[in-house]
Parts: sequence; structure tokens; C-alpha cells
Amino acid sequence: MSFYKKIRNIAFLAEPEKAHKLALSALKLGIYPPSQYDSKLLEQEIFDIKFKNPIGLAAGFDKNGEVPNEILESGFGFTEIGTVTPKRQVGNKQPRVFRLEEDLAIINRLGFNNDGMETVYSRLSKIKKKGIIGINIGANWDSKDKINDYVKGIHKFYEIADYLTINISSPNTPGLRDLQTGNNINELLKSISHSKKEKINTPIFIKLAPQLTKKELTYVVNKSIENNIDGLILTNTTTERNNLKNLRYKDENGGLSGQPLMTPSTKTLKDAYIISEGKIPLIGVGGISTADDIIKKIKCGASLIQLYTSLVYQGPNLVSDLKKDLTEKLKKEGVQSIDQLIGLEAK
Ligand SMILES: Cc1cc2nc3c(=O)[nH]c(=O)nc-3n(C[C@H](O)[C@H](O)[C@H](O)COP(=O)(O)O)c2cc1C
Repeated sequence: MSFYKKIRNIAFLAEPEKAHKLALSALKLGIYPPSQYDSKLLEQEIFDIKFKNPIGLAAGFDKNGEVPNEILESGFGFTEIGTVTPKRQVGNKQPRVFRLEEDLAIINRLGFNNDGMETVYSRLSKIKKKGIIGINIGANWDSKDKINDYVKGIHKFYEIADYLTINISSPNTPGLRDLQTGNNINELLKSISHSKKEKINTPIFIKLAPQLTKKELTYVVNKSIENNIDGLILTNTTTERNNLKNLRYKDENGGLSGQPLMTPSTKTLKDAYIISEGKIPLIGVGGISTADDIIKKIKCGASLIQLYTSLVYQGPNLVSDLKKDLTEKLKKEGVQSIDQLIGLEAK
């Protein structure tokens, strides 16, 4: 049994949120493996940003920007803080995170628990960044003007973030996902566009759900391109519960992540690549746990990828292992760089 598996058996005795707090504490104390593998083959330049490797830590792990440098030092190519909302929020009642071990999955209904943008801003402005840090912004659950919450987030963070993510796809804030469709998305994109005209040059991405219809996805992708959005993140968690083995938690409300999300999120990614004709960089997220999964996402249109749930199940050596395996696989594919594979299966 690997060292992490032994630790995991103990950590899994704790409630998921307690185990997560422990992981954050370990990172703060410097208890994490240093990055063990780098390779020229994994490097890319996208949005004028140099990425050492394509593997990012997805939003939700470091919601309050407490350990971004430690995450980067453990080998991730980039990390995404948040979701951060204008006002501090406690989120939903506990318990609100569930491990579905048989499915290598998690259900969460945290509901944007976070310290609020002033606190996160002041924390982040004190550190010297050791790599690429994105900030994922959201709206408060009781906000009367959700679009304005995103505008506030953009203005607060654009100077200190390497990129900003507009998260309109969390299933845990009532009404939030409605911003992905119809007139709502137009209004939101207009406001973002307006901010960009005010000389905000920080790349802005939009993070979408895996459950949009083809018509809705086509609309939001095309409108994003029209409004000069810099990238799309596909996808957030799903509220679907197809083919789960776990009987205890599978019907808990919230967003499902991990292995069962790989197929639906990759389909959405591929559809978005086909719709956009490769005109806008895509970040693939959902269910990644192996180098083959990363290759699959790249071939379906991703320039970069993110993961979260597999880190819980496989531990902090995962990122170094993935970088090594991915490099081997890229060599086998006979390519000199990742971009030669992007979208190959999305025709
Ligand atoms: C416990 C937990 C909390 C999350 N919180 C956020 C969040 O605050 N904002 C966000 O955009 N995504 C959040 N996510 C979604 C992840 O960023 C990611 O999109 C999703 O988990 C799919 O990736 P995975 O299968 O590799 O975990 C969260 C996921 C988990 C498991």
C-alpha cells in the first residue's frame, strides 16, 4: 500500500471538510512533496502567459487564497483561487460534502463559503507569487444584482490575478446557472465587455456547466467569442446522478465531481471546440485522474486542464506522476508540443 493510501485511510475517517482543513494546514506548514518533474514538452504560451505545464488545480480547493504558492511549488502549472464573492459567506448547513468512494467521486453543496473579496484581496496582495494564479469570482446568494457582483470581482482582482474566471455554473447558488442562458448571458457579457473597454487586460474566462443543451451551449460559446472573452472552462460539477455505485450519498443535493463526470464534461468540451472552431482556448476539467484522461481532454479541444477530486483520492504526488506519464505519452504520440494534439478528436 502506498504511503498516501495509508494516510488517506486515516484522513477518510474524518468528515470531508475536516480532512480538507487538515490538507490546507499541512500545505501551510510546508508538508507536501516538492515538484518532482518538469519537461519542455509540457510548456505552452497561451493568453501571453507562459505555462510550465498544462495541469491546474481547479477552483474550490483553495477558496480563500491561503496556499497558492504551496500548490504551485507542489508542481501544478497554475492554480485557481475561489470562488470568491463580494461579501463573506458561510455557505450551506453542514454536512455539505460527501465522498462517494466506490465511484471515486464527491458531491458538494458548499454554497460559496468564502472570506469575501476584501479579505482574499488583502491576503493575496501580501504574497510574492510563485507562478500563475487565477481568481474565480461569483455572486452572493442573496445578491439582488448578481451581474454587478461579477463586475465588482473583476474590478477588485484584475490587477493581482493572472486571469479571472466568471463562475456562472455552480449548482449551489439559486439562480446562478440561469446566467448562462438567454438575455442573462447577454447582459453579463455586455458588462464584462464594458470592463474590458476600461482597459482591463487581464484574461477573463467563463466557467460553464456540463448540462447545457446543444442550443444553449452554441449560444453562450458564440456570444462569448463575439464579446472577446479570452477562454472557456468546461465544466463545473453536475446535478445528474447517472450510473453511480454509491447508495448512501448518491441522492444528496449538490454538484457531483470526479470520475463519473469525465464523460459528460468531455462531451461538453468537445461540443464547445466544434462550435467555436478552435477560435477560443478551452480549459478542460471534470473527472481527470490519469495522463490518458488529460490526452483525451486535449484531443477533444482543451489547451489546459484542471482537476480537483482525483487529488483527494490519489494524494499530492499525483501531479508529478501525471506530468511524468503525460510526457511519456506525448513522446509516444510523436509530437513536439501539446498544441499539435489539441482538437484532434473534435472534428
Ligand atoms: C469540494 C468542491 C468544491 C468546489 N468549489 C468550487 C468553487 O468554489 N468554484 C468553482 O468554480 N468550482 C468549484 N468546484 C468544482 C471544481 O472546480 C471542478 O470544476 C469540478 O470538481 C470537476 O473537476 P474534478 O472532477 O476534477 O473535481 C468544487 C469542487 C469540489 C469537489
